[in-house]
Amino acid sequence: MKTQVAIIGAGPSGLLLSQRLHLAGVETVVLERHSRDHVLSRIRAGVLEQGLADMLRAAGVGDRMDAEGEIHDGCEIAFEDNRLRIDFAELTGGKTVMVYGQTEVTRDLYKARDAMGGTIIHNAENVALHDVDSDSPYVTYEKDGETHRLDCEFIAGCDGFHGPSRKAIPADRLKVFEKVYPFGWLGILSETPPVSEELIYSGHPRGFALCSLRSRVLSRYYVQVPADEKVDNWSDDRFWEELKSRLPSDVAADLVTGPSIEKSIAPLRSFVAEPLRYGRMFLVGDAGHIVPPTGAKGLNLAASDVFYLSNALIDYYRADDETGIEHYAEKALRRIWLAERFSWWMTTLLHKFDEEAFDVRVKRAELDHLVHSRAAQTALAENYVGLPYD
Ligand code: APR
Ligand code: PHB
Repeated sequence: MKTQVAIIGAGPSGLLLSQRLHLAGVETVVLERHSRDHVLSRIRAGVLEQGLADMLRAAGVGDRMDAEGEIHDGCEIAFEDNRLRIDFAELTGGKTVMVYGQTEVTRDLYKARDAMGGTIIHNAENVALHDVDSDSPYVTYEKDGETHRLDCEFIAGCDGFHGPSRKAIPADRLKVFEKVYPFGWLGILSETPPVSEELIYSGHPRGFALCSLRSRVLSRYYVQVPADEKVDNWSDDRFWEELKSRLPSDVAADLVTGPSIEKSIAPLRSFVAEPLRYGRMFLVGDAGHIVPPTGAKGLNLAASDVFYLSNALIDYYRADDETGIEHYAEKALRRIWLAERFSWWMTTLLHKFDEEAFDVRVKRAELDHLVHSRAAQTALAENYVGLPYD
């Protein structure tokens, strides 16, 4: 089999890249290790920057998002009994975010790929990349007991943190920058009305907590737990009690509890791999970088990678212009490091570390500054709604 761009991974990065390239007349084949149901069974975050929401609309994948998603023009930062509203729209000249689950984005992308007759090969095992630093790279994979070869001109590694693409970069050429946090997020999904109209990020001496939502009848809550914590140690009752103890009392009083329909623990890590390009292979999304979820940047960074790479490949095929390809890594990495910094800052500010008394006071002063400084609030708002792509 032959194509122009082989895409490894049918997560949001791979599917959005495939959709944008197809709309521009560039052929792609997507290879996914799991089944479609498995991909769609993952519970992930749900805050979309303006840039991503606009890209989904432009790719013909925005209707359900606009019908069922919620535009939020602010969020809250809470610490102990203080509540600070960050007014995104007022502080950024009208910018907002769209609250719409990543799983729904992936579902909409699948529907769009089907409608255009996109080629997605599921249950492709042992995907391997070959000759990525030559002019004719190719990918092999196994399916139904047979080995297959996909010849291509470029490979987009959209295969997440554990995928094979990053490993195709020789060890002596790959640099990784990593910070692993000593805690995780225990999250639940519950068919209960969200406790607040907007998201609440709460820093508390007992640890971080987040009140988020998927709709007016589906809530998503998180509490910080030790990195080695086991989900079985947490009954729903224990979760609700702990969440309430970390929220301002008026919020805790309004919290509607109920049985969890999903409960899991996610580790927190900051990670960047450089370079993002090796020969004719490009790393996109989680394959090249991970952010802790505190800044809601994971999906949005994957989207900006897709923005830069799809434009670069379209320029290459339409105008034989290699400038975008040459500058993909540099452009994407600049925005990645800005979002890594913001996500690390939000995580450091709002989580409980094993820290000295001095550090605790400094964080309190940082929150105090945030409350009293419009400039500090503007900096948070600008980063949260998403920094410009160009
Ligand atoms: N062969 C084929 N497919 C693979 C392989 C492999 N060896 N390894 C992984 N994959 C697939 C996974 O099954 C998954 O469907 O690659 C896809 C990667 O998707 P994601 O992990 O969702 O990564 P990405 O598309 O970059 O999306 C980033 O996902 O994890 C969140 O916070 C993150 O929101 C961000 C978004
Ligand atoms: C979520 O809704 O799951 C969510 C929202 C915001 C975050 C992280 C997760 O920062």
